[in-house]
Amino acid sequence: MRTHYCGQVTEADIDSVVELAGWVHRRRDHGGVIFIDLRDREGLVQVVYDPDKPESFAEAEHVRSEYVLRVSGRVRRRPAGTENPNLPTGAVEVLGDTLEILNRADTPPFPVDGDIEVNEETRLRYRYIDLRRPEMLQRMRLRSTVVKALRAYLDDEGFMEMETPMLTKATPEGARDYLVPSRTHSGHFFALPQSPQLFKQLLMMAGMDRYYQVVRCFRDEDLRADRQPEFTQLDIETSFLDENGIMDIMERMIRKVFKQVLDVDLPDPFPRMSYAESMERYGVDRPDLRVPLELVSIDDLLADVEFKVFSGPAKDPDGRVAALCLPCGCDLSRKEIDEYTKFVSIYGAKGLAYVKVNDLQAGRDGLQSPILKFLTDAAIDGILQRTGAQSGDLIFFGADKTRVVNESLGALRVRLGKDRNLMQGEWKPLWVVEFPMFEHDEQADRWVALHHPFTSPSVFDPEALKANPGKALSRAYDMVLNGSEIGGGSIRIHKPEVQDAVFHLLGMEEQEIRDKFGFLIDALRFGAPPHGGIAFGLDRLVMLMAGADSIREVMVFPKTQTAACPLTGAPAEVGDPQLRELGIRLRKPVAEAKSE
Ligand code: AMO
Ligand code: AMP
Repeated sequence: MRTHYCGQVTEADIDSVVELAGWVHRRRDHGGVIFIDLRDREGLVQVVYDPDKPESFAEAEHVRSEYVLRVSGRVRRRPAGTENPNLPTGAVEVLGDTLEILNRADTPPFPVDGDIEVNEETRLRYRYIDLRRPEMLQRMRLRSTVVKALRAYLDDEGFMEMETPMLTKATPEGARDYLVPSRTHSGHFFALPQSPQLFKQLLMMAGMDRYYQVVRCFRDEDLRADRQPEFTQLDIETSFLDENGIMDIMERMIRKVFKQVLDVDLPDPFPRMSYAESMERYGVDRPDLRVPLELVSIDDLLADVEFKVFSGPAKDPDGRVAALCLPCGCDLSRKEIDEYTKFVSIYGAKGLAYVKVNDLQAGRDGLQSPILKFLTDAAIDGILQRTGAQSGDLIFFGADKTRVVNESLGALRVRLGKDRNLMQGEWKPLWVVEFPMFEHDEQADRWVALHHPFTSPSVFDPEALKANPGKALSRAYDMVLNGSEIGGGSIRIHKPEVQDAVFHLLGMEEQEIRDKFGFLIDALRFGAPPHGGIAFGLDRLVMLMAGADSIREVMVFPKTQTAACPLTGAPAEVGDPQLRELGIRLRKPVAEAKSE
């Protein structure tokens, strides 16, 4: 139907006849001449119809935005002064000869050209139109390029791509499962994989040595900008490599892709930081190193002050008092500070104390703060010294359970970095290592695996593990880029007795272990090699590379924040016959459940 893509007509084509097919991006009538910007995947070109060709001119008059056309015409140089330097085809235009309307289009619910102010629900409902927008097309193209580069790298490194089942058994990755009822085994359910974790380990036990898969994962969890119920991992597993070997191959991959796709040189090697250090300095295990602010612990300085808000957490082994110094922060208004106080309250902070350092030399008199009267001179001196505050700076304080202080000041740190334009450097990757093996779930009062229960402890000492699970470290590693966890993995347990001990530590009974993971324990008995791997969140990686602020912007058909698809109407009710076939009776008729 065509000789060229619209966006690929160039000056080299001047005087030749081209045939094009595409969508009407814009149509303008100009004193008896009709201009049509015709658009396809590769871009736009201007097609001009004048009344010399009465038939096609008449047809051009009927044309509206988003009609699908097939046209032919001769390429010519645009008249001097009418070139468009912003358009790759801007030096030329096509003098239209024929024009065939292949299909009409209703007026689109939002314009495809220009910036749009339209709610996301509408964009998702008409995603096929949204994806026509050049910005979206660009992102999908980037995604495709990234996947291609990743695959090429892994193929070169001797990895084999293999597909693992979608209808499977629960794999614990910390979310709820999406379940699929079985018709042939009434009352039984498949789970869609939260990740291919166990299958990739089984592939190592099968001797495959190096595996990868670009794979869909399903997690029923609370959604955020960087989380979707179904998302894509670049999933990887290797045998006979330790964590250094794996991290080396993986950071080389990411460096190569950034170089190839964005022409960006990432650091070589990536810096590494322990989990403990990251929590201490940044309050999170995925620090955004572009923000040059740090949390500073001051518990020891405040244990004896009269102000209970500080002394309480300072003396509590599970508490923390930390300071965050904002250079030149003295100009923050009351209103701005109130706004930040509201912001940290989202993370459970009960307040946000601060001290303005108006004049460092003037001692106590140079400071301004609602809590000044509660602080001793020694405490003030210590705080100023430890934070390195200068005249003009503002120091924020968090005092609470360690988790609350870390989450609130950690988030405030990034917010301040953005609000105050403090970001340094464009790309700051790092590895976070030496994660704790377990964390304590306060509500359930039990230990849960921080990564997943197949991660190897750093040292396997069953007695020590049992006596003090909170102290045990694991052989897990996360790759973090600009404050986003883009990948996580670990060296796995390959000895059945270690796996068994870890399951028991997690509070599982023998029978439960057999029922859920018997197949894994069995496989570990038949010659499991030492193995380990990682999975990257492909959507997150592409989101960062595209400069987008949500992974939904780099997925063709994402779900809404309530895990629904406005385009297809999924999830949907199913009819009684289908339910009966599956042996399912709803606890409540759908209408009743909805009205609750
Ligand atoms: P993990 O659970 O850390 O590890 O997931 C790996 C990476 O997947 C991305 N990710 C998500 N992206 C979008 N939406 C979600 N809901 C979502 N959840 C996770 C993140 C994360 O770093 N089996 C292990 C990997 C391994 O040990 O090899 C796993 O799945 O970028
Ligand atoms: P109050 O004694 O509640 O009036 O608090 C005095 C100051 O301490 C205010 O600026 C509060 O925002 C701040 N504040 C209160 N609780 C905390 C907390 N847990 N962490 C940090 N600052 C707090």
